[in-house]
Amino acid sequence: MNTKIAFIFDLDGVIVDTAKYHFLAWRNLANSLGFDFTKKQNEQLKGVSRVASLELLLKIGNIKLSEEKKQALLIQKNEEYLSYVNKMTSDEILPGIAKVLEFLIDNKIKFALGSASKNAPLILKKVGLINKFTAIVDGNQVSKAKPDPEVFLLGAKKLDMNPEKCVVVEDAIAGVKAANAADMISIGIGDKTVLNEANYVFEDTSKITTEFLKSLIN
Ligand code: BG6
Ligand code: MG
Repeated sequence: MNTKIAFIFDLDGVIVDTAKYHFLAWRNLANSLGFDFTKKQNEQLKGVSRVASLELLLKIGNIKLSEEKKQALLIQKNEEYLSYVNKMTSDEILPGIAKVLEFLIDNKIKFALGSASKNAPLILKKVGLINKFTAIVDGNQVSKAKPDPEVFLLGAKKLDMNPEKCVVVEDAIAGVKAANAADMISIGIGDKTVLNEANYVFEDTSKITTEFLKSLIN
């Protein structure tokens, strides 16, 4: 094993494009509550836990509900989300990601998942990647949401690596902040102006080259 460096990947928006399914399910929920929810507003929900996402959504709709009703809505949202997830195949792995993972495996570099999603293991199974990861940290294992570094620090611990030697790949502002707070190297996937706190930014996953990965290792 190469112990100089390790990687921790976010899931939604980095490994797979599930952000569109989260959006559809949240928008339908908003519509059922009588308000609209736009793609732009959805940006605020990226990387944010399920419970915190509902709170943000209700704030947008200016709606106050009982705890009981909120629990029911969380179940409703997740059921719709899972109806999309259950149809997923390896076709939905984002461009370039399979190549990046193969490169890391070939170079004996360990990698973990660091996701806020409680559905992460199911999604990895659906796309056939679950056995590739040395360690998995998902929303069931952490109590503090990104931008808190807990998820990535636990990932480093499971990989048996010092945080400074870990490289985090993230598409959410909250995730980039969490990586930086953990003293890790951060790679943002998306808009440079939005992810300006990341150490490196790529417009999309297909832009991560093996040359870049080699330069990080050495
Ligand atoms: C994050 C997503 O990865 O997981 C968020 O970016 C989502 O949009 C969060 O809310 C929690 O996911 P889940 O699958 O537990 O509802
Ligand atoms: Mg993400």
